[in-house]
Amino acid sequence: MGKCLVIGAGGVSSVAVHKLCQNSEVFTEIMVASRTKSKCDALKEKLKGITKTKIYTAAVDANNVQELVEIIRDFKPDVVLNLALPYQDLAIMDACLETGVHYVDTANYEPPEEAKFEYKWQWAYKERFEKAGITALLGSGFDPGVTGVFCAYAMKHYFDEIHYIDILDCNGGDHGYPFATNFNPEINIREVSAKGSYWEKGEWVETKPMEIKRVYNFEGVGEKDMYLLHHEELESLAINIKGIKRIRFFMTFGQSYLTHLKCLENVGMTSIKPIVYEGREIIPIQFLKAVLPDPSELGSRTKGKTNIGCIISGIKDGRQIDYYVYNICDHEECFKEVGSQAISYTTGVPAMIGAMMIITGVWKKPGVYNIEEFDPDPFMEALNKWGLPWKEDFKPIKVE
Ligand SMILES: NC(=O)c1ccc[n+]([C@@H]2O[C@H](COP(=O)([O-])OP(=O)(O)OC[C@H]3O[C@@H](n4cnc5c(N)ncnc54)[C@H](OP(=O)(O)O)[C@@H]3O)[C@@H](O)[C@H]2O)c1
Repeated sequence: MGKCLVIGAGGVSSVAVHKLCQNSEVFTEIMVASRTKSKCDALKEKLKGITKTKIYTAAVDANNVQELVEIIRDFKPDVVLNLALPYQDLAIMDACLETGVHYVDTANYEPPEEAKFEYKWQWAYKERFEKAGITALLGSGFDPGVTGVFCAYAMKHYFDEIHYIDILDCNGGDHGYPFATNFNPEINIREVSAKGSYWEKGEWVETKPMEIKRVYNFEGVGEKDMYLLHHEELESLAINIKGIKRIRFFMTFGQSYLTHLKCLENVGMTSIKPIVYEGREIIPIQFLKAVLPDPSELGSRTKGKTNIGCIISGIKDGRQIDYYVYNICDHEECFKEVGSQAISYTTGVPAMIGAMMIITGVWKKPGVYNIEEFDPDPFMEALNKWGLPWKEDFKPIKVE
C-alpha cells in the first residue's frame, strides 16, 4: 500500500521497524535512515526472510534539512516516522514541508542546549502544514501517545466532562544493573532530573524534582513508589480536554535508581553544559550516556512487567464516574517477539500504529496535531491487534 521512511535506528526504531514489517500489507516498502548506517543494516539483516516488506537503508544526518530532503525525494515515502532524538524534530518537519510528506514522531522538540521540552516550537508549524495539505502527528509513542488516545477514548465514550486525570507510568522491570535507563539515557535523565509540574485550576504548579511521592499497587507489578514529573502530554491535554481541573503524571522509580541519579547529579555528570577535557569539549551527560548500558541491549536481561495508564474522573449524565484504562506489558514476552524490552516495545508499537493511521488515511487532517485530537477508536482497536491490549476498571483506587 505505501512507503514509510524511518529516521533513527535505536531502541524504539528497532521495535517500530519489526512492527512495520509485520504489517506488510500496509507498509510495502520502508527505508531506515540514521546517523550510523551499520545499525540500519543490522536491523535489515534481522528481518531478512521473515517479512514481505522491502527494506532499504541509508545514512543521514537528521540535523541537516538538505540531506533529509534528498533522501525523501529519492525514496518518495508517504510518511516520515521520526524515531531519532527530540533535537531533530524541527529539521525533519522542515524537510517534510519542503517535500510535501506527512510527519509522525514520539517526542516533542527540545533544544540541545536547554533541558526544556515544549510544544510551542512544533505547534508554530501548524499553518504551514495546513497550507501544504500534510499532517504532522505529534507524540505517537506510549506517553505521550497511547495516554492521549486513552483520554480521548474516555471523553468520547464515558464522560460528558472530564475533571481529573492522573497518568501512571509504572515499570516493574528488573535488568539486573545497578543503574541503567530504559530509553536514550540523555533524554531520560534530562526528563527525570527536571523540576516537576502539574496543571491545576488553569495554571501550572511547579514542584522540586521528585518532591511529590505516592505509593500505588499496580496490577501485574505490585506496590511501587511513584513520583510526580512534568511530562509532555500534560501540556496538550490541558488544552485539548476541555473543562479539565487537574492533570498530573507519575512515574515509578526504585531507590537504587534515585540514589545513583542523585550522586551523578551531585558530581556534575548529568550537566548539559560543555566542559573542556584534555583539550576537547565534551558534554558530561553525553559522556555518561557513552558509559551506561545501551538501552537497546537491556532486552535479554529484563524481567517483569510495565503497567501504564490513566485514571480519569468526571461526570456522565450528572453522575460521578471514575475510570482506569491501562496496558500491562511483559518485558520477556516483548523480547521473545521482537528482541527488545517493554519500554521500547510500548513506544515502537504505537509509533507504527500512528504511521498506519496516516498512511491509510484513517486519520486525515492537514496541520499539526497532538494524538488526542483524532478519533481514538481505530487506534484503540489497533492496540489490541498489534500487541498492546488494554484493560478497563470502573472502580479504580484513586491517587490522593
Ligand atoms: N513517547 C514515548 O512513550 C517515548 C518513550 C521512549 C522514548 N521516546 C522517544 O523515542 C525516541 C528514540 O528513543 P530511543 O530510546 O530509541 O533512542 P536511541 O536508542 O538513542 O536511538 C536514537 C536513534 O537516533 C539516531 N540519531 C541521533 N541523532 C541523529 C542525527 N542527527 N541524525 C540521524 N540519526 C540520529 C541515533 O543514531 P546512533 O545510532 O548513531 O546513535 C539512534 O539510532 C526519542 O526521541 C525518545 O525521546 C518516546
